[in-house]
Amino acid sequence: MRHVLTSLCAVGGALAARPFLNEPDTGFDDVFGSLPAGELPPLDQLVGLPDFDAAARRHLPIQNYTYYRNGAAAEWSYRNNLEVFNRYSLRPRTMVDIVDIESSLPTTILGHNFSAPFFISPCARGGYGNNDAEKGLIEGAANGNILYIPAIYASLTIEEISTFKKEEQVVFQQLYLDSNDTASEALFARAEASGAKALVFTIDSAANGNRHRAARYGVGSADASYTKITWDFYDHIRTLTSLPIILKGIQTVEDAKIAVERQVPAIYLSNHGGRQIDGARSPLDVAIEIQREAPEVFSQIEVYADGGVRYGADVVKLLATGVRAVGLGRPFMYANVYGTAGVERAIELLKNEIAIDAANAGIADLKKIDPSVVDWTPNWASS
Ligand SMILES: Cc1cc2nc3c(=O)[nH]c(=O)nc-3n(C[C@H](O)[C@H](O)[C@H](O)COP(=O)(O)O)c2cc1C
Ligand SMILES: *[C@@H]1O[C@H](CO)[C@@H](O)[C@H](O)[C@H]1NC(C)=O
Ligand SMILES: *[C@@H]1O[C@H](CO)[C@@H](O)[C@H](O)[C@H]1NC(C)=O
Ligand SMILES: *[C@@H]1O[C@H](CO)[C@@H](O)[C@H](O)[C@H]1NC(C)=O
Repeated sequence: MRHVLTSLCAVGGALAARPFLNEPDTGFDDVFGSLPAGELPPLDQLVGLPDFDAAARRHLPIQNYTYYRNGAAAEWSYRNNLEVFNRYSLRPRTMVDIVDIESSLPTTILGHNFSAPFFISPCARGGYGNNDAEKGLIEGAANGNILYIPAIYASLTIEEISTFKKEEQVVFQQLYLDSNDTASEALFARAEASGAKALVFTIDSAANGNRHRAARYGVGSADASYTKITWDFYDHIRTLTSLPIILKGIQTVEDAKIAVERQVPAIYLSNHGGRQIDGARSPLDVAIEIQREAPEVFSQIEVYADGGVRYGADVVKLLATGVRAVGLGRPFMYANVYGTAGVERAIELLKNEIAIDAANAGIADLKKIDPSVVDWTPNWASS
């Protein structure tokens, strides 16, 4: 029996909609089901990012797993982040010479070189998955040469995490900020001293997240207060640091356009992994909205996005809208159960999937991807 978290019944009960499967059935339980309870499958036998979720679920205490896994309320936004990618089908072109696709994976994020257009999203409490906490995340990112964004509510402090940083490794620091300038200035100084090259200010959680699954196990949000976050506040905090401040949690074309007007260096589309307000759209839908109503935004500032990315094709679809780089939260927290080697393997698996999926879609060069590779008419029948 699969791990079915929720099943939906159609209105009137006449039609049963397809149940939501948190873990796709690709044979994980058939192959690893007989392992002793809690034992981790061999890392080299994990074939894709969803396997890390399955492995972590079997291995971790339920409270620990629940902190990573949970979404807000009935978890529609969490599920939708995963399912939305199937609503937009690919339009693969053929007769294209794609053999050099891998050379187009490297990219820049705010001017810094990385080996791939994806990064590790900021997630609190690495210690719930591994006794070494964030060590595996920052080391794995260095070895795979991708961006890591430590969370301010990480299990380790900014300074502790930075002791694992490789020379030349670029990290950005995530922050929650409120109207206490003394506290903000202290955080800016610590991030700068530890070598962070940019700040990522999370603006999608002005209030506590409504998290039922987490509340059941006493593992709620690390950031639970009401916070006054406005454009004037953003303009003000910019005067307190010389580091660029990226805004994380933009969810509408309106706010994206204001960010351009306010000369924000980069925006990061996110619904916090569906953990804050149930019903919030997926970042893919927000990116499509920007592509339809204000496509110029993608060339005016850098746009990043995260939420539900699990496969190479998901990355391809987000890049096709104009998004420059894509974040992943839970997959890396689950990979970090295996420590540095797990994070490295997750990076390698995703790099390979992006390259082969892009190639099979007829994309010769990821830098020249455009919206025509996707049919943007939603295919509701598929979810
Ligand atoms: C366990 C966990 C903790 C998180 N903590 C933070 C945080 O402290 N700050 C933040 O901006 N986002 C946080 N997020 C949201 C992630 O940065 C990211 O937006 C989200 O995980 C993306 O969705 P995905 O998990 O489906 O990839 C957290 C997400 C998870 C799963
Ligand atoms: C980034 O890569 C470009 C092109 O490969 C190179 O010219 C540049 O020196 C690199 N920048 C840094 C800081 O390494
Ligand atoms: C579960 O989380 C707690 C912290 O809340 C930590 O002490 C413990 O080591 C974690 N368990 C595992 C297996 O990582
Ligand atoms: C503001 O932050 C500083 C430094 O963290 C702290 O000492 C002070 O008590 C805070 N002020 C208020 C009003 O909370």
